[in-house]
Amino acid sequence: MRTMIWIPVVVVSLVLITSPARAFHDGGVAYCAGCHTMHVSQNGGPGYHWTPGGNPDLLMYGNATDTCVRCHYFRGQMSNGLGRGPGGDFYWLTKTFTWSTPEGATASSPGHTHGHNVVCNVFNVPADPLLQHAPGGDFLSSELGCTSCHDPHGNQNFRMLYDSQIGPRYVGDTRFAFTADAPLARGNAGTTLVGGGADETDARHTVYKSGFGEWCANCHAAMFDGAGVSHAHPADVALGTTIADHYNGYLSTDQPGGGDPTISYRGLVPFEAVDVDLSAVDPANATAGPGPGDRVTCLTCHRAHATPFADAGRWDFAATFLEADSHPRSGDGGASPQDIANRYYGYVFSPNQRSLCNKCHVKDFGDAPRDR
Ligand code: HEC
Ligand code: HEC
Ligand code: HEC
Ligand code: HEC
Ligand code: HEC
Ligand code: HEC
Repeated sequence: MRTMIWIPVVVVSLVLITSPARAFHDGGVAYCAGCHTMHVSQNGGPGYHWTPGGNPDLLMYGNATDTCVRCHYFRGQMSNGLGRGPGGDFYWLTKTFTWSTPEGATASSPGHTHGHNVVCNVFNVPADPLLQHAPGGDFLSSELGCTSCHDPHGNQNFRMLYDSQIGPRYVGDTRFAFTADAPLARGNAGTTLVGGGADETDARHTVYKSGFGEWCANCHAAMFDGAGVSHAHPADVALGTTIADHYNGYLSTDQPGGGDPTISYRGLVPFEAVDVDLSAVDPANATAGPGPGDRVTCLTCHRAHATPFADAGRWDFAATFLEADSHPRSGDGGASPQDIANRYYGYVFSPNQRSLCNKCHVKDFGDAPRDR
């Protein structure tokens, strides 16, 4: 029942939380009382929506993730789909979409397949009911939360991600060892609500430099294959001249060539720009396409948090025509008009646009237009 009162109470305290919080973490540890309570008591009784009886880590709320979303609910990480950040909005984990196939069968896109199920009491996100542990690794799904990837006490890595010096808190009081260091990248502000000025577009996006494949492999070791032996799609592998040229030339299924390399970057199909100078690049206006040494990586196809689509896909991997076939779409059970409006952020496709794998592989060359 706590869920019923939690959200309204937080809305009331919004003003109190946001004004001094502009630089809350500031690349390190924020003031302790932002997340901890020493006695679960203030003004003679429990503070608003604190966990009755307290928490073994003296956190203010039920677990680490509950503590984070108390603020990040207003910043695009658990925000009704209005979060349009590079990481994506965990709200999509709470949304299951259903529809009938042309053959009359029932099909669905269950919420738990939409990304990393960060166990969160406040928004009713349980551990993934299907995957007991990370595919390709052994990190248990029951332990997954915001602080499986981000260090709550901060560090100077990109987005305070954990690294090989210290890994996330794990079962009991142990730490899960990360073998790889945090990736090198530079992003925009962490508040990614639509209209807030930091939502992802073709020009405004994280500039990825290196190391994402290895970093994701801290938990998904068998999915990362730099050497091309395990028959997984390459990650952190150079595009080479042919694929870089495809990327730069490709505009859409209608115009698979002729693009201008200085403005060919697509926010939905990012790559690692290995030679970029992160101190000089402007992630609010980065439009250049790749050179042959730049790399495909996990985040070319996935988002790090969650999306409306299966496997945290940046686009619906099961759609032939992205605009017409992607779920959620009009008529789906569970899909509000707002969900449909937010599914592809502000990106716009022509009706003929097929899978974005084509940005690099151009298998849609000369294809027939959509005729349904
Ligand atoms: C952004 C939220 C946040 C802030 C700010 C924060 N903590 Fe924590 N702290 C956590 C979380 C969450 C845990 C639970 C362990 C985990 O999930 O990593 C924790 C656990 C701890 C622990 C026990 C486990 C450990 O890592 O040693 C100590 C001690 C601690 N915090 C001290 C502090 C102190 C002291 C400060 C202020 C200087 C502080 N924390 C600020 C979120 C925070
Ligand atoms: C008291 C409010 C508050 C709490 C609690 C809180 N955050 Fe934040 N967080 C912020 C603010 C404010 C920002 C800055 C947002 C921006 O850049 O617009 C931020 C930014 C971040 C960023 C981006 C940082 C960067 O370097 O760009 C990460 C990652 C993050 N928070 C993770 C967490 C995690 C994990 C927790 C829980 C352990 C947590 N936060 C708890 C307020 C909070
Ligand atoms: C701290 C460990 C950890 C890290 C780091 C991690 N993952 Fe995961 N991942 C998991 C676990 C556990 C699951 C299974 C539970 C779930 O899906 O909620 C999972 C599931 C997934 C899924 C399947 C989601 C579904 O429900 O079908 C994808 C896709 C994924 N991860 C991609 C990534 C990518 C890309 C990265 C790097 C940005 C990454 N992961 C980093 C632990 C991790
Ligand atoms: C599986 C690892 C993982 C988990 C779990 C995770 N994050 Fe992130 N987060 C990342 C990565 C990686 C990025 C960088 C994404 C990018 O730039 O493409 C990121 C980015 C962010 C940002 C910057 C804005 C954005 O959209 O990129 C914030 C704020 C943030 N995370 C907060 C959170 C909070 C709050 C939680 C829990 C509710 C959480 N994260 C859970 C890996 C994770
Ligand atoms: C070229 C696009 C692409 C790249 C690059 C990519 N993936 Fe995937 N990933 C997919 C697709 C598509 C699926 C859906 C299942 C499939 O096709 O095998 C998927 C599925 C997954 C799953 C779910 C598997 C399951 O059993 O449910 C995980 C976990 C995952 N990817 C992690 C990663 C990690 C980690 C990396 C980087 C080392 C990565 N992916 C790189 C496209 C990609
Ligand atoms: C950012 C560019 C990029 C995107 C987007 C991309 N790939 Fe790839 N893909 C590559 C690179 C680079 C290779 C390695 C090619 C090589 O070594 O010759 C590759 C290899 C492959 C191969 C192996 C074929 C071969 O020549 O070895 C297949 C199959 C494949 N990709 C399918 C996909 C699918 C399906 C998607 C969408 C889910 C996708 N790719 C998205 C860059 C990309």
